[in-house]
Amino acid sequence: MSRSGEAAAMEPPESLLAELRALPTRYPQKRGALLPILTALQAWRGHLAPTDMKLAGELTGVAPADVFSVVTFYTMYRQQPVGRFPLGVCRNISCWVNGSERIVATVKEQLGIAPGECTADGRFSLEEVECLGSCGTGPCLEIDSRYFENLTPDKVRELIERLRRDDRSPSEAILEAQRAFPAVEERRS
Ligand code: FES
Repeated sequence: MSRSGEAAAMEPPESLLAELRALPTRYPQKRGALLPILTALQAWRGHLAPTDMKLAGELTGVAPADVFSVVTFYTMYRQQPVGRFPLGVCRNISCWVNGSERIVATVKEQLGIAPGECTADGRFSLEEVECLGSCGTGPCLEIDSRYFENLTPDKVRELIERLRRDDRSPSEAILEAQRAFPAVEERRS
């Protein structure tokens, strides 16, 4: 899977285009394929470029303004390149009550980036996202669909240090880090 800068100026390969063209045929109305197409394009590029949104609109017959509305509505879609480890901190009510602002502040302090920004080395990026569906174990943070729950500032510092040192592939590093941070354990200090 390509990421951020690597694919920033590229067009999707023919193999992906073939998959994307097939998707609308699986839905009663081809516009039903809009989310899967956007998701596949983001998985390939790491974010959605304007050309990706244009392509998704062309393949599904959805007007550009409506494609843009969808992309801006769902926080899972990104319009900017993300880091090797894209940190998504839930900002909804349960996580907020349990201290999500402290989690964001800790990431800012550790990495020197605000939501929407990426570290200069491209290793980490930070976003505030909507409910991750894990409201009982907030504050919660997602990295590439893997959850880190019941977080505290100390745990976040430890998580960042762990990922900073890990030179394996992002998926391996995130999985290993997740094993070190089981969701059900001692809550906030
Ligand atoms: S409010 Fe954070 S996971 Fe639902």
